[in-house]
Amino acid sequence: MNQKIFIKTFGCQMNEYDSNRIYDSVKKIGYQKTENYEDANCYLLNTCHIRDKAKEKVYHEIGRVKKIFRSKKKPLVIITGCVAQAENQEMLKREPYIDLVIGPQSYHKINDTISNYIEKKKKIEETEFDAVSKFNYLSKIKNKNNKISSFLTIQEGCDKFCHFCVVPYTRGPEYSRPFNQVLDEAKHLAYNGVKEIILLGQNVNAYNNEDYKLSNLIIEIEKLDEIKRVRYTTSHPKDMTDDLIDVYKNSEKLMPLVHLPVQSGSNKVLKLMNRKHTINEYLKIFDKLKNINPDIEFSSDFIIAYPGEEEDDFKDTIDLIKRINFINSYSFIFSPRPGTIAEKYDLISKKISMERLEKVQNILFENQTRMNKSLENKTIDVLVENLTDDKTRVFGRSEYMTPVIFNGKKSDIGKIIKVQIKKSNRNSLFGEVINFSKQKVA
Ligand code: SAM
Ligand code: SF4
Ligand code: F3S
Repeated sequence: MNQKIFIKTFGCQMNEYDSNRIYDSVKKIGYQKTENYEDANCYLLNTCHIRDKAKEKVYHEIGRVKKIFRSKKKPLVIITGCVAQAENQEMLKREPYIDLVIGPQSYHKINDTISNYIEKKKKIEETEFDAVSKFNYLSKIKNKNNKISSFLTIQEGCDKFCHFCVVPYTRGPEYSRPFNQVLDEAKHLAYNGVKEIILLGQNVNAYNNEDYKLSNLIIEIEKLDEIKRVRYTTSHPKDMTDDLIDVYKNSEKLMPLVHLPVQSGSNKVLKLMNRKHTINEYLKIFDKLKNINPDIEFSSDFIIAYPGEEEDDFKDTIDLIKRINFINSYSFIFSPRPGTIAEKYDLISKKISMERLEKVQNILFENQTRMNKSLENKTIDVLVENLTDDKTRVFGRSEYMTPVIFNGKKSDIGKIIKVQIKKSNRNSLFGEVINFSKQKVA
């Protein structure tokens, strides 16, 4: 079989990781990736359910595909990801153009499901939670990623049940992959040329496999010579334990950007959200990390206008943002999700929600711009990832994940280069390598 697959990915980094792993799998039954969906024999939509009208967006997208393929042979249409899990067989009933629906913990079955469909034309939905089989299968087919920076899922699912969130329902209970399975994947990535590993989990710092914790994993992965940088995301404040904080004391490869979603600066709202920690506890984590290394910066996620958020609560969020000086953060207006406790709560008016979001974003953007500006005329370490699209310069990232563009060369890709920052804007840094001959690379 020589077929072409077009994969469209929505949502978080874990969906990106999953899409790559799905491709590693379907390659084995003869699929090659295409970037041009009109060429595809198989159209796979890896969906996200976290906010807004996620479900409707999927049907809308299918409508578009239908139109494009009106005068062509219909592609095999597969829906994967969190909407697939949440909607399961409903999708097959509502939209006959969809052929297969496969939830996030059934990807180990994808080849058999496709082959079976091609043979018997039987539409099917696979949405069992079976993280063990999924990761056993994926670790056998090897992660083929050879980019400079690669995701590596170590944990999936969530037992925290924040009142606003669909993840416990779409990704199932918390599961941590076996320690050695993760290390093998890290070694394989290093062997393939990967230089930065970003450990992933919906609750990555809740990782616990036979008493091995995230801290143990980071310490082991940093021992791989080829790996120059290690990151992890997304963490929950409740699981920010001292063993993990202590890794920052001695680690040279763990990057000084801590993404630690807080959602709100108000204890009252945190309680309404069922976040299981207070602002004081969050500040303690912040102080401990800053004491270890004052250069550590924080980024976060915020939910604005959560039901019950009053002006004073919102002010607490603004105060917290100013106190911590978060960089690179995400903020969203609360979106009621089907099946969650907060689904039925009374919403704050759209006008107030928008005003609050704008205020928060202005401050967050100011922080980001100020942080980038403070780097002008300084020399920073950049891990080079690729040439720019026009091939005249190179693109990499600072230790804080900020994109950096400078006058490097192709042979810099995969190296850590010292770059002097000349200009900046909110999202990027622009620099120059001053003296190529004296450049000492890692
Ligand atoms: N596990 C992470 C944590 O505990 O913060 C978050 C993972 S969730 C995939 C990513 C972000 O989506 C959350 O931090 C939250 O800000 C946002 N989010 C989740 N549900 C939401 C909702 N119903 N409305 C708006 N934003 C939401
Ligand atoms: Fe969702 Fe994160 Fe809360 Fe889990 S801890 S329910 S993933 S927001
Ligand atoms: Fe979306 Fe599922 Fe990730 S809902 S954010 S794709 S875990």
